[in-house]
Amino acid sequence: MAHPYNIEMLRKSAARKLPRPIFDYIEGGAEDESALRRSTGAYDQYQLLPRALQDVSNLELGTRLFGCEVAWPLMLGPTGLTRLFHRNAELAVARAAGQAGLPYCLSTLGTTTIEEVAQSAPGPKLFQIYIFKDRGLTVEFVDRAREAGYSGLVLTIDTLMSGKRERDRRNGLSLPPRLTPRSFVDFALRPAWSIPALFGRKFDFVNLAHRVEALSAAPTSLYQYADSQFDRSLTWKDVEWLARQWDGPLAVKGILTADDARLAGESGADTVMVSNHGGRQLDGAASPIDQIGPIADAVSGRLTIICDGGIRRGEHIAKALALGADACSIGRPYLYGLAAGGERGVSCALNILREEYERTLVLMGASGQAALSRSMISHRPIKP
Ligand code: FNR
Ligand code: LAC
Repeated sequence: MAHPYNIEMLRKSAARKLPRPIFDYIEGGAEDESALRRSTGAYDQYQLLPRALQDVSNLELGTRLFGCEVAWPLMLGPTGLTRLFHRNAELAVARAAGQAGLPYCLSTLGTTTIEEVAQSAPGPKLFQIYIFKDRGLTVEFVDRAREAGYSGLVLTIDTLMSGKRERDRRNGLSLPPRLTPRSFVDFALRPAWSIPALFGRKFDFVNLAHRVEALSAAPTSLYQYADSQFDRSLTWKDVEWLARQWDGPLAVKGILTADDARLAGESGADTVMVSNHGGRQLDGAASPIDQIGPIADAVSGRLTIICDGGIRRGEHIAKALALGADACSIGRPYLYGLAAGGERGVSCALNILREEYERTLVLMGASGQAALSRSMISHRPIKP
């Protein structure tokens, strides 16, 4: 393949490398996938109004997130099960993020330990946490993240129950993945992935395995597992509780309304991640980009606002910032890179987005994030 010059090329390359059930796990959304589709499509409803002749010979790209200097306003969001996509798993992602000067957020459902990521990743590190039924386990994660020098916690609140991922049902995806009559052809067509993955190093949720029944013991569905651990009785009081345990930069991930952004701030968070979980949870949920304006009106200046979901172009990042976000977060774009080429593939994804973002700034007549404003956006809904 030609050297990939956009995220879509990395996506195609990932699709060629991974067995269908594994690619579909990355790619898919809940139910009809309408939230997933719209999350990217919604960016087209905003048109850029560039300013002419502003002297953009020096771009100011750096900013601060979670108390750390970052190279430009992007972070790599948490994604579980990363070892399924490349043998170097989270370490490849964390190293590429560090090289690029961007924060990486390890998932609780990751496949590399909190400590291993801390030791081999140079850049700012965040840990994505859940408030489990077993609060002792949550406290243990807080302590481990603090010990290992993580800069911030990201509390995910939109997974009280797992979303209905119909691709995974169709493919009979189990954890660890196993050969079934239904999936045999899919795996057999991708032997370079399948032979080491199905017969090599065992797959597990390494951060949890000592506390809960190891998944490698018996294949199960991720969703049964998650549903048994998540606590549907959570309220904002529990966020206050977590904020007291951690006492450092804390983001709440999965906010879609101005009221909830305010409540997150009142409960002790300093950052909100405006997100519909990449369309993987509540199908029909609003698109993050559409909620940035209202949320910025409510909390801008008091809370850091991160736009998460659907970003495939640097131009999307510029739009989110112009509407009032302080930074953006990505999931699938870096996973495509990881599946396509490990650490180099992740770096490639980050370089593509950065180059596009810089080009957008120059062509917008904006010498940095501070020069982007809502007056540079026209909102004209397009018919689907
Ligand atoms: C995710 N996401 C996610 N979020 C989270 O808080 N904890 C997790 O373990 C995971 N796991 C996960 C796995 C995979 C394969 C994907 C694609 C996503 C959601 C993720 O952090 C982010 O919200 C979305 O990926 C953003 O949308 P885009 O960038 O993928 O369009
Ligand atoms: C997902 C879970 C791991 O989106 O949050 O697949």
